[in-house]
Amino acid sequence: MRAVVLLCLLHAAAGMSAFNWDGPGRVAPDPITNPASACSVDQLSCDCCKMVRETNRLQTYFDATLTNLEGELEKANQSFVALQTKRVAFSVSLYTGDNFKCYGPFAVSTAVAYQHVFLNLGTAYNMANGVFTVPYPGVYSLAVTSFSDAGSPGNILAVCTSLQVNGQVVAGSRELNRNDQEDSATIAVALRLKAGDKVSVMLSGGCYLCDDSSHYNTFSAFLLYADA
Ligand SMILES: *[C@@H]1O[C@H](CO)[C@@H](O)[C@H](O)[C@H]1NC(C)=O
Repeated sequence: MRAVVLLCLLHAAAGMSAFNWDGPGRVAPDPITNPASACSVDQLSCDCCKMVRETNRLQTYFDATLTNLEGELEKANQSFVALQTKRVAFSVSLYTGDNFKCYGPFAVSTAVAYQHVFLNLGTAYNMANGVFTVPYPGVYSLAVTSFSDAGSPGNILAVCTSLQVNGQVVAGSRELNRNDQEDSATIAVALRLKAGDKVSVMLSGGCYLCDDSSHYNTFSAFLLYADA
């Protein structure tokens, strides 16, 4: 294609000296000073000019398409980079050590400061106070599993936690009885949260959680969909 076009261009180019055609019955075309007038000269030049014109048209078309695609790629890349920098996910459990220990009971409702970190991508979970501060607005998936052990049968079992956003209870879990020595309860919700929202798990007054390296008590959240 390129060679043909080149030949055409050479043929159509201005100021070319005449050359001979070997083919029978053919005469050398006159040098063409204006390619646009080629059609008035002979059929071959006319076809070449059409081809050159078509090539130019295609080049303009491809240039425009490519520029468009580059713009779209840039936009897609920016969205991707933005999503990458907005990764938020954490998963923590109550204790790191092997020893079986209990958290509480306390007289008043107290935030649970989970000490073992499985993952804290984006470091939005604060181990010192157990608070997850939402870094980016969007839809988050959150889950809390609470476990306790009454110590021996007949003792009061008191698993009572709630998931709170800015001090407001979103959902609770409760296992308060003398029938079981051990029990667990789970909260799982999807919430639309704003940047700066404070999410924590509160242990109700008089209740307590127990755990060891089995990690029966977990608190996890991740950003499912970031707001645009
Ligand atoms: C996407 O954007 C990043 C950061 O601006 C840049 O480093 C990377 O080269 C871009 N990738 C493409 C395919 O444009």
